[in-house]
Amino acid sequence: MVALREGYDLSAEVLHLKRQRNAIILAHNYQIPEIQDLADYVGDSLGLSYKAKDTDADVIVFCGVHFMAETAKIINPSKKVILPDLEAGCSLSESCPAESLEKFLGQHADKNYYVIAYINCSAGVKALSDVICTSGNAVNVVESAPIDRNILFVPDQNLGSWVMEKTGRPMDLWRGACYVHVEFTKNSIGAIRARYPEAPVVAHPECTFAVRMLADEVCSTEKMVRYCRDSEADSFIIVTESGMLHRLRKEIPGKTFIAGPTNTCACADCRFMKKNTLEKLRDALANLAPEISLPESIRQRAELPIIRMLELSR
Ligand code: 13P
Ligand code: SF4
Repeated sequence: MVALREGYDLSAEVLHLKRQRNAIILAHNYQIPEIQDLADYVGDSLGLSYKAKDTDADVIVFCGVHFMAETAKIINPSKKVILPDLEAGCSLSESCPAESLEKFLGQHADKNYYVIAYINCSAGVKALSDVICTSGNAVNVVESAPIDRNILFVPDQNLGSWVMEKTGRPMDLWRGACYVHVEFTKNSIGAIRARYPEAPVVAHPECTFAVRMLADEVCSTEKMVRYCRDSEADSFIIVTESGMLHRLRKEIPGKTFIAGPTNTCACADCRFMKKNTLEKLRDALANLAPEISLPESIRQRAELPIIRMLELSR
């Protein structure tokens, strides 16, 4: 049992426990600012997967959602992987249960599908897939798919249709969606665009077609940082989850970032990403729990398509 030190503020306590545990803190771009500020690495799903695979820490504390921590465990099984709140799920992952995908593949065996799964899915779905992709490499992954196979893309129909537009490759799409990104609408983004006509609109590919049509750039959260840094523009409308604004403002302090609004809110929060708090992070390090575990047979089957993706993207 690790002793908590009296009189320390929460962030200092987290850092103290992290050193005691020889842990690495990996945080997704949608985490609250306090967590981003003390993480060892902040990034998108692809960057976080590489960090999880390459770390020599004993413990990976994953400040993100369940499928991200599970991916870390799949590709680095000897590590203890902990997630501050086990309830940090994902609507995309929920939209495609492994049993439903297995049944669908059985019913359409004649199609001999090559299954490409967006990383926002469970280990069970990954285990049924040929290759995994993230928003950062989906175009490459689809372009590398065998030309003589029918593609089934799961679970995000919006990311899937964006990749079809970019590659011209037909795919059958699972009907899942991110509940956060579909909240942005043509009206809400059209209105903010009219208010700031000089600001490029930068949108995540999980947004609907109508919103992507209004965007100057559609890309993963990590690529948003590069795009905004390299662009000559001074201000940007960021159409993704609100946590992204902290990363952008911190790394590119000279520019202005405006949150893309929904029809009802000035910005969009993911209730799953926001389940993680500094207190829960401190407790997770102190207790080494909640821990991610999964059956070894599933882990092994889920690892192959992730490795395939990592090799395609290096
Ligand atoms: P990125 O990999 O682009 O960060 O996306 C992850 C995610 O959950 C988007 O909603
Ligand atoms: Fe899932 Fe959407 Fe939240 Fe990303 S923002 S974790 S896709 S629910």
